[in-house]
Amino acid sequence: MHIPSVPGRGAHASPPARARRGASLAALLVWLAAFLIFCFPFLRDPDATNWVGEDERRAEEDVPFEEDVAYFEEDYELPIADVIADGSEEWFGLESDAFRSSGLVELQRIEPGQQVYELHCAGCHDDSGNGAGPAARFLVPRPRNFLSGIFKFTSTQTGGKPLRKDLFGTVTRGLSGASMPDFRLLPEERRHDVVEYVRYLSMRGEFEKLMLDIAYDDEEVPDPDEIAEIVYDRWDPEEQREIFPTVAETARDQASIDRGREYFLDANRTQCDSCHGETGLGDGVNADAYQDAWGYQLRPRNFAAGVFRVGDDPSSLWRSIATGINGSPMGAFDSNLSGEEIWDVVHYVQSLSEGGAQ
Ligand code: HEC
Ligand code: HEC
Repeated sequence: MHIPSVPGRGAHASPPARARRGASLAALLVWLAAFLIFCFPFLRDPDATNWVGEDERRAEEDVPFEEDVAYFEEDYELPIADVIADGSEEWFGLESDAFRSSGLVELQRIEPGQQVYELHCAGCHDDSGNGAGPAARFLVPRPRNFLSGIFKFTSTQTGGKPLRKDLFGTVTRGLSGASMPDFRLLPEERRHDVVEYVRYLSMRGEFEKLMLDIAYDDEEVPDPDEIAEIVYDRWDPEEQREIFPTVAETARDQASIDRGREYFLDANRTQCDSCHGETGLGDGVNADAYQDAWGYQLRPRNFAAGVFRVGDDPSSLWRSIATGINGSPMGAFDSNLSGEEIWDVVHYVQSLSEGGAQ
């Protein structure tokens, strides 16, 4: 009996098809090698574990949320898993009337956003958004866990939520000095979609985490309606104030840099040097003393490396110093320094990142 061969498969592949496969395999290997080389500066010892202070709860990314919930139920003998799941569905479910009418997310972007996310982001940030994707354990700093609702590189008031354009900027630019790549090549609409999906994951995650955190603090199960209201308010676009420098940028001359240095070292007003070190190398006396909001050690920036996550735009630096960096030990300095003084400090920091104070 004659069995027709399947065209283009296995040993029957025509030479051009084989060559094409060879080429795509080579492309994959080149891509993988490039990715590894790119991530090399951020690789860490995967066995290093970080613990949250004295607390027995481990750094969030290392413990899946469900386990943390189960731990609470066991410890306090209070059922909470279903309360969180039902509350989450009722207030943040895509079918929930309350959520659909809240205007907190652009609903039509969620599905395409999820597709982009699963393809391009989940490897680091995980499908769930908890920052513990397959690549995460090798990376320093860790990919962001979105489920706490905290973002660092925002143009809003201290503790505020990011504007859509902040997240869009992060996705477009990437984060220099961290493994987060830029996604300039992704069509603009797809970047807007994924931003919306990240916002969605974040507010829903924040609700669930806040339920559990308050339960741990109060040793009882909180009312999901109350917690949902808090999270709705926090994400309300009306509550976000975009911060601009209060005065126009002053002249960036030697006198400004010298004044900036003085403020940088001021023991009463800033103590920048206690974290960033006297010459901004990230080696101050407290450099090793802090963890971030997710329980991982976070070292102050070394300015000599010349990379700023918020980008090189001077007004973004002004804002980081004025409002602080959410989720990090660096607080806001707008009540200790005037607008002009912050510009002097920006100029000093820029001078350090360009090869030492002139
Ligand atoms: C190779 C790993 C990697 C990939 C892929 C990646 N990220 Fe990230 N991302 C990171 C790391 C690491 C950080 C944390 C940087 C830090 O804390 O300084 C981060 C942080 C973020 C932040 C937080 C910024 C802030 O203000 O706190 C957002 C938003 C973000 N990523 C979105 C995305 C999106 C959307 C995608 C996919 C389109 C993506 N990331 C893909 C590694 C990655
Ligand atoms: C309590 C410690 C601490 C103090 C005090 C502190 N910082 Fe920071 N700073 C940090 C840490 C930690 C980071 C890294 C944040 C991150 O990566 O999430 C940082 C980051 C920065 C960045 C980088 C922002 C970017 O986009 O990458 C700048 C600029 C900066 N600090 C300036 C200052 C200045 C100026 C002062 C004083 C007015 C100051 N810091 C005081 C801990 C501190």
